[in-house]
Amino acid sequence: MKPSMDSILTKQIHNSDDIFQMLNSKEDERKKLFEYAAKIKKETVGNKVYFRGLIEYSNICAKDCYYCGIRKSNKKITRYTMSDTEVIDAVKYAHKENYASIVLQAGEISSPQQTKNITNLLNQIAKATNNELGITLSLGEQREETLKEWKNAGARRYLLRIEASSPELYSKIHPDNPMHKIETRIETLKLLQKTGYQTGTGVMVGLPFQTAEDLVSDIEFIRDNNIDMVGLGPYIEHKDTPLYSLRNTLLPQKERFDLSLKMIAILRIIMKDINIAASTAMQAIDKIGREKALKVGANIIMPNLTPVKYRESYLLYEDKPCIDEEAEECKNCLEARIVMAGDEIGYGEWGDSKRFFARQKHA
Ligand code: 5AD
Ligand code: FES
Repeated sequence: MKPSMDSILTKQIHNSDDIFQMLNSKEDERKKLFEYAAKIKKETVGNKVYFRGLIEYSNICAKDCYYCGIRKSNKKITRYTMSDTEVIDAVKYAHKENYASIVLQAGEISSPQQTKNITNLLNQIAKATNNELGITLSLGEQREETLKEWKNAGARRYLLRIEASSPELYSKIHPDNPMHKIETRIETLKLLQKTGYQTGTGVMVGLPFQTAEDLVSDIEFIRDNNIDMVGLGPYIEHKDTPLYSLRNTLLPQKERFDLSLKMIAILRIIMKDINIAASTAMQAIDKIGREKALKVGANIIMPNLTPVKYRESYLLYEDKPCIDEEAEECKNCLEARIVMAGDEIGYGEWGDSKRFFARQKHA
């Protein structure tokens, strides 16, 4: 007989079958899952939501992931890189508004010039904000020396989504060449942890070819690698990418969204003290998607601080929300939304992952 949802939820250690059952829960069982995740969130990380102002620094990318709108082969977009002044303006805005943290994100470029540019920017950011901002980087796979250099220049967190932890699935959604190897991605995640970054990863949910078993393995991957922060969300088709031709094989968007919510709830329950983002992709499918994510365990939101003129060119997927709202409008709408979800904003606090400090203690 199948164990009850109550007995699964309160287990100390969850096996693959437990995770599978949570992921497949419907109606009453799903309600229990969500309620339990909300309870764990309240008990472990509290009801504060932390802001990470997102700066989409450049859409130039050397890679060609089959799902991504800014992939190298997409000739339909205008490529841009923000000027240092534009970055510093965005950073100053975040600082003034007490966001306490920013994320510097860009397509993946690994070159000595890129390393230098980012180090230089990090130094300017530190100077402009009195070293007070918690800086997260999301700049793809990089060499150990580069990661160290950026860490020394003030970055404290790094996001590198594994995208899909199953090697078979990974190889189906990426070109088959040395630039797109799951092994390198996993090694980079390990390097980030070794270098002392608070390390974030995550996956896309509802990818073509993806099975429920793949999603169970994704959760186990995140748990077994002792990840500090998670960002995950539904896969959303983009018409100028190769995977678009498989759009008829996908789960309906609503189901991808629903599965993403369950993934967040399960991770909150089995990892408890990590930070989990309510991703923008959640909102692309459901107007109150991020609030729903907050309710079932997420505690991080990334308001977009990229100047509006660049937003059209940073469409990783279609229907990306808030592409025409300036930072100030974004902030007002977010505040109302967070309160609506029953949380409050941790202004002026870094809101570091509690898991990271627990991990340091045991290292
Ligand atoms: N749908 C949803 N998420 C996507 N990303 C890239 N392309 C898509 C898409 N089509 C996500 C990837 C990447 C993050 C910055 O955006 O997971 O890591
Ligand atoms: Fe840029 Fe995947 S397309 S990293």
